Amino acid sequence: MFLTEQQTIETKIKTFCEANGILLAALEWKPLPFNGEWGISTSFFATAAAESRLGKNIVVAKRAQEIAEQIKGQLGAEGFSRIEAVRGYLNLYFDTHKYSRRVVDTVLEQQGRFGSGPATGQQVMIEFSHPNTHKAFHVGHLRGTILGDSICRILDFAGYEVVRANYPGDMGLHVIKWLWGYLKYHNGEEPSADITKWMGEVYAEASKRLEENPDLETEVRGVYARWDQRDPEIVTLWERTREWSLEGFRQMYTALDVRFDVYYFNSQEEKPGKEIVDELIRSGIASDDRAQGGAVIVKIDEFLGLDKEQFRTAVVLRSDGTALYATEDLALTLHKFHDYPDLAKSLYLVDVRQSLHFTQVFKILEIAGHAEAQKCGHISYELVTLPGNVVMSSREGTVVLLEDLLREATSRARAEAQKKNPALTETQLESVAKAVGLGALKYPILARENTKMVTFDWQTALDFNGQAAPYIQYAHVRCNSILKKAQGDPQTLNFHRSPYEYELNPAEVQLIDMLSRFPDEVQRAAAEYKPLIIASIAYDIAKAFAGFYDACPVVQAEPRIRAARLRIVAATKQTLANSLALLGITAPEVM
Ligand code: ARG
Repeated sequence: MFLTEQQTIETKIKTFCEANGILLAALEWKPLPFNGEWGISTSFFATAAAESRLGKNIVVAKRAQEIAEQIKGQLGAEGFSRIEAVRGYLNLYFDTHKYSRRVVDTVLEQQGRFGSGPATGQQVMIEFSHPNTHKAFHVGHLRGTILGDSICRILDFAGYEVVRANYPGDMGLHVIKWLWGYLKYHNGEEPSADITKWMGEVYAEASKRLEENPDLETEVRGVYARWDQRDPEIVTLWERTREWSLEGFRQMYTALDVRFDVYYFNSQEEKPGKEIVDELIRSGIASDDRAQGGAVIVKIDEFLGLDKEQFRTAVVLRSDGTALYATEDLALTLHKFHDYPDLAKSLYLVDVRQSLHFTQVFKILEIAGHAEAQKCGHISYELVTLPGNVVMSSREGTVVLLEDLLREATSRARAEAQKKNPALTETQLESVAKAVGLGALKYPILARENTKMVTFDWQTALDFNGQAAPYIQYAHVRCNSILKKAQGDPQTLNFHRSPYEYELNPAEVQLIDMLSRFPDEVQRAAAEYKPLIIASIAYDIAKAFAGFYDACPVVQAEPRIRAARLRIVAATKQTLANSLALLGITAPEVM
């Protein structure tokens, strides 16, 4: 928050050191732990250590303290309430009143941009969601979709240029099975309302019939052969039905408020993937064991001369010469850089079970001399489970459909909202149900470490008093109603320049401290690809606001205080809205 002050001070320190022959090492600034008073701190150990290395006869700790004291003596306390030199550190404390006001002013000036970072000039691609066409969009895809969307929002806000990529699986045995099942049992039918659900049902039926009667596999192989020969009837049917799935996904993404900039499809990567494999064989990186009935493989560890098992051996082409998942990913990786040559990073948000797969794909490309592979990375996440330990990605029976989950979320949220505020009109209730329902679905996923399982349960997700979306949304609504109540009152019209010269209540200082942390938390969340950090600060702000709300009268306070506090409430409302936006959660005005 106080970059300007920090820079001014740093310039002063540099000037002083130059004038006094001190070879100043790079300064590192850290906020002082908040203790009712804000401050920043830096140390001179690196400078003293460098002097010692140059052969000066000094004790590093003692010399660091000496420099800190000299600088303290030189600096005017201007802008600071006090300056300390302790144990080699220089601690600068801000005037609490001025700082409080500065934080609140900054939020209200920057509004929707408060917390955002300066443009980094770096372009980053995040591939996420990647459901399979001709199958249901089940909740197993939900975590990746929600997490990916939030990571994109955070990176964008933090100053990166983000490319949102999707990679639906649109060809493979599952698609062939579907086409077979459709032709045999549903020929001529078209999906109506719930496209994705219907697509999933056709697929599930095909699987079931094949299981009951394995003889039918011959027919499926027949469809595969027709596809391989690009039989026009099959190709046309595939194109048409694929479009149905994609339309279903688009509806789903609209419902979830998620968007993409570019779509890749595995069907397009098959041929270029095989070409890469040919290149790998020619250059001696892959060994072609097809003549002996084997596959095409890359013994990565052996190739790199590693004794310990690390990258292992990857299969890059089947023995019958057909493409594998890995074959296609080799091509996709390069395809992305072909389309976006300036990518600083190309990241794949895929569940943890595929870690080895991505490590291998990137390593093989690197070995083959594709330097861009070093810019690639896998962000992994764990699965989601429902109560009763139903894993939401299994194939039969236990699959929970996203449409159903969304519907349930909305109706449960509606019931809660009605209980809480019976005065809501039908229109209000509808939009509250949507906002709260979606928040309840997204927040538990985002508020969890990517690498830990999420166990989803409605009670926690819809808790208005615990660490949950409705609690944060409700804080936003409370801020809104305080501000509304105060409007039209002449006293508040000039609240924009109030001096904060009353004694600040610890609860309001606490709240302001939370607001001031938001910009740093955005940067941290972006650096670590962790929406969890934003989910936590949003909750901490809401909690600090509850403390403030209990301890500090606003509308009832005397005019001077009332004006300052209204500004604090407005700044809180804004920061809550900004943080919820990064989570892809709506901040309602009423609920
Ligand atoms: N569609 C795949 C699945 O459902 C995930 C694709 C992940 N992305 C990739 N580039 N391989 O498992």
